[in-house]
Amino acid sequence: MKALYSQRKYERVETRLQDIPMPELRNGEVKIKVEYSSLNFKDALGVTGVGSIFKKFPIVGGIDAAGEVVETRSPKFNVGDIVLITGCGLGETHDGGYAEFVIESDQNVVSCATLTARQAMIFGTAGFTAELALARMLQNGQKPDMGPILVTGASGGVGQFAVRAFVRAGFEVHALTGKFEMRERLMKLGVKKIVLPQEFLPDANVAPRALESVQYGGAVDNLGGKTLAALIARTQLWGSVASIGLAEGPELQTTAMPMILRGVSLLGISSNNCPYNLRLNLWQKIAGEVANDKREMSALETFVAREIALDQVVNVAKEMLSRQTHGRILVKI
Ligand SMILES: NC(=O)c1ccc[n+]([C@@H]2O[C@H](COP(=O)([O-])OP(=O)(O)OC[C@H]3O[C@@H](n4cnc5c(N)ncnc54)[C@H](OP(=O)(O)O)[C@@H]3O)[C@@H](O)[C@H]2O)c1
Repeated sequence: MKALYSQRKYERVETRLQDIPMPELRNGEVKIKVEYSSLNFKDALGVTGVGSIFKKFPIVGGIDAAGEVVETRSPKFNVGDIVLITGCGLGETHDGGYAEFVIESDQNVVSCATLTARQAMIFGTAGFTAELALARMLQNGQKPDMGPILVTGASGGVGQFAVRAFVRAGFEVHALTGKFEMRERLMKLGVKKIVLPQEFLPDANVAPRALESVQYGGAVDNLGGKTLAALIARTQLWGSVASIGLAEGPELQTTAMPMILRGVSLLGISSNNCPYNLRLNLWQKIAGEVANDKREMSALETFVAREIALDQVVNVAKEMLSRQTHGRILVKI
């Protein structure tokens, strides 16, 4: 089968399209003919070798996949089912979605329900993670009357879906973005205020104080670093900050003060390790929203910035890491 294969060559990762043998199907596994995958920030780090994403070599990358079951050794799935996988080690600990076929344990496979494989991958890990952040924040008591939610890295895949999710749930959403040209798009999604990085952190060299004036009810953070520290410092009493990403950096310099004096919660969001029942519930919610609302179905296409082929993945990944992309990038297999 054709696959985008990543191998370690000395200290570098070399990724190229090639023919590789089809692995054997074992008990409890399904074989999926992949229709679509997608390009996430994590995939970009992996296929370029910029980040240590791959836990084995050689490997086929791609943390997302959706398509049709063509062979099954699982009682949970039938040939012809349209299914998806996001995370669960796909394209990280074992071969992923950048191939004609994926073999996956039935513990990680989810039925697409009423979604097509393409619709499922428009959401992909990005859309699923945004919904996971909303679910965790609601569970932790976040309410619209606590104040606006600031979404950082708002032009990206997770960012745009986080805006969608919180607007749908009745929150006022503000968006932090370095891409002024994405202003109109974000406003169309329902953002009430655009915040530019230079307004949010006027001096990027100065670390934010642990407590600052309250500005937000809560936040969804894709960046980490000083941005995350500043979000925690500016969050309302009992508000939550969902920590999703580290596009700016993995470090976090703060103190226990916002937690102790304001009851602020820092919620970790790990879509890769989301328990199966919660995973299933969130995908059912996503599928239901799309199926029950015609406008939602057509609005979904506006999240797709580009559709690319397997042999374009590495170049587009480099663009993503240099911050030249926005929205969702679908990979058609
Ligand atoms: N925890 C999880 O389960 C999980 C799941 C999915 C993704 N993630 C992480 O979440 C983040 C977003 O992922 P994604 O797939 O949405 O990526 P993406 O589409 O590339 O979006 C990332 C956004 O972050 C901003 N950004 C990128 N590089 C930056 C930098 N150096 N400094 C400051 N801002 C930067 C950009 O937004 P603006 O130009 O609008 O500022 C960019 O559009 C990544 O760190 C990813 O690894 C985590």
